[in-house]
Amino acid sequence: MITHVPPMGWNTWNTFAGEVDEQLVLSSADILAESGLKDAGYEYVVIDDCWALKERDKNGKLVPNPEKFPHGMKYVADYIHAKGLKFGMYSCCGTMTCAEFPASFDREYTDARTFAEWDVDFLKYDYCFKPSSVEGKLLFRRMGLALANSGRDILFSGCSGGLDATHEWIGSTGANMWRSTPDIMDTWESIKNLIIRQYDILPFGGQGCFNDMDMLVVGMNGRGHVGLKGCTADEYRVHFAAWCLLGSPLMIGCDIRNMDAEAKAILTNPALIAIDRDARCAHPYIIRQSDNDEYPLIVRHLADGDIAFGFFNLSDSAANLWIPLADLGISFTQGKSAEGKDVYTGKPLALKNETLFATVPPHGCEVYRLKIKDIK
Ligand code: GLA
Repeated sequence: MITHVPPMGWNTWNTFAGEVDEQLVLSSADILAESGLKDAGYEYVVIDDCWALKERDKNGKLVPNPEKFPHGMKYVADYIHAKGLKFGMYSCCGTMTCAEFPASFDREYTDARTFAEWDVDFLKYDYCFKPSSVEGKLLFRRMGLALANSGRDILFSGCSGGLDATHEWIGSTGANMWRSTPDIMDTWESIKNLIIRQYDILPFGGQGCFNDMDMLVVGMNGRGHVGLKGCTADEYRVHFAAWCLLGSPLMIGCDIRNMDAEAKAILTNPALIAIDRDARCAHPYIIRQSDNDEYPLIVRHLADGDIAFGFFNLSDSAANLWIPLADLGISFTQGKSAEGKDVYTGKPLALKNETLFATVPPHGCEVYRLKIKDIK
């Protein structure tokens, strides 16, 4: 099995888009390895779109752009592997990638073998320029089979943006994760939209094929390709906590060479990463307080019996949120209660009449790892 918990890493797209080159990738690998990010779990260094020449070679193989990658991709792979990290690349099931570089339609086996020759460990596989006469699930299945027969363990990261009811067929393609959302932008509106879009598809994620909510924008602060407005630190905290509680892969998208301390603290929060990568990979579920999409209470039962729980306030005003512990299966009449501390602030949970409550600021959250205890 290639992975049994959601993968973590860094991807070039959110900040650099077409401006990718060897120097960027190797220097980012250095930072990943040396700054504590690798220790926190981030291990894949992924080159997204725009790495190739527009033409294949005479044998029909993809060619890295020599101006961007003068030593080729095996060199990049060796460098990344020497740092104890893993190497990811990008292609697409259509006739061109989303940025109009050559893609793998009808070349699946050639390309999978090429990636294996370059010692690639991860393939992000997009959905642009897909011929309308062929079903996406067949094309993804073809690449899944090509990777499985490439002679190398390559994690298959499907990126169809949830199109064509991806959730119904992705599990049959060999994909290890699947993009359930359109592209993220570095704005609060985008984060909120992507969280709400998960509510109805949560049962389709989980061990074997993780529901990928897209790359993180924490630390972008409005800079780079999807930078736009940027978000506040509280909004980035909500973003990271929601991705972790919902069990998404965690792929950093900011320029990690110039990351501020606040972003780093969010991205390396050990309590949240432990929830994201919990061995049980249980499906999270959402209780909408007052039937309101803007107050998702997110619950995830963990391998050791603890319960990860988050109050989220996606609205523009402060909200009083609550949940009786009994609704989480922690029953007062059975002599049970709970304790826990907020994963960001360390504040102990507030209980009144065995009901957990919080006043949560707009665009804010409180997240606990609840430990069940006996009432004396
Ligand atoms: C799509 C994907 C993005 C990125 C670009 C590259 O939009 O969803 O994550 O890979 O293509 O062109």
